[in-house]
Amino acid sequence: MRIAVVSLFPKVLDCISDIGVTGKAIEDGLVALDGINPRAYAVDKHGSVDDRPYGGGPGMLMRPEPLKSAIREARQKIKGQPKVVYLSAQGVKFDHEKALEYAKLSELILVAGRYEGIDERLICQEIDEELSIGDFVLSGGEIAALAVIDAVVRQIPGVLGHSRSAIEESFVEDLLEYPQYTRPECFGGEKVPSILLSGNHEEIRRWRLKQALGRTNKRRPDLIRRRAMSNEEYDLLEEYIAESL
Ligand SMILES: C[S@@+](CC[C@H](N)C(=O)[O-])C[C@H]1O[C@@H](n2cnc3c(N)ncnc32)[C@H](O)[C@@H]1O
Repeated sequence: MRIAVVSLFPKVLDCISDIGVTGKAIEDGLVALDGINPRAYAVDKHGSVDDRPYGGGPGMLMRPEPLKSAIREARQKIKGQPKVVYLSAQGVKFDHEKALEYAKLSELILVAGRYEGIDERLICQEIDEELSIGDFVLSGGEIAALAVIDAVVRQIPGVLGHSRSAIEESFVEDLLEYPQYTRPECFGGEKVPSILLSGNHEEIRRWRLKQALGRTNKRRPDLIRRRAMSNEEYDLLEEYIAESL
């Protein structure tokens, strides 16, 4: 997958291109990541990329011309048919489904805004989708772009070392993940649940499924409501609820 990020601060990409899952995906050639700075396409000699909003109001807006040229450059660099996404507090909410959808793309351009945002005409002319990472306002789209790239890259086949890692994670099939434990066996006076030490794989599977169902029911009832549940899952959830009384 080829990803280009249009940003006034492309250096922020270093923090995912050098480390962890994303760094390894780039090293293995599964992902290529480029940063393109609209300042390189400023239209005046001062290199300005922002201006006052027509009609007045607080703050500055990103001018459309440098952004348009930077998006053109990104299109040329990554080729193909990229989806062009503007990170925006006003966009559709980013979630697990979106991450899966984007992971199927071969090319993606992410546009990070700054100041009070970008000129509406640029959005109409160049942007395929506006994407929000939550109902709050960030100072810039870079942190949102990093979050989106990280979540998408781990869904690309071959990126996660253990093929089951992406399948057993939270939000897959509308479930939060079960609680996990590692050594030591006793920590702060609390022991690891004995079932996990039993070596009985079927019992461990049922315990984990029960915990995942119970935890999701408690923390995210909206997910449980839309989940198609099997008879076994209904029984396990009932057991969990009864045990928590
Ligand atoms: C200060 S914000 C602009 C907010 C804008 N004036 C508004 O009220 O919607 C600057 C930039 O941060 C990014 N941004 C802010 N909140 C975001 C969010 N929740 N998700 C994704 N990007 C966001 C966008 O790229 C935006 O152009």
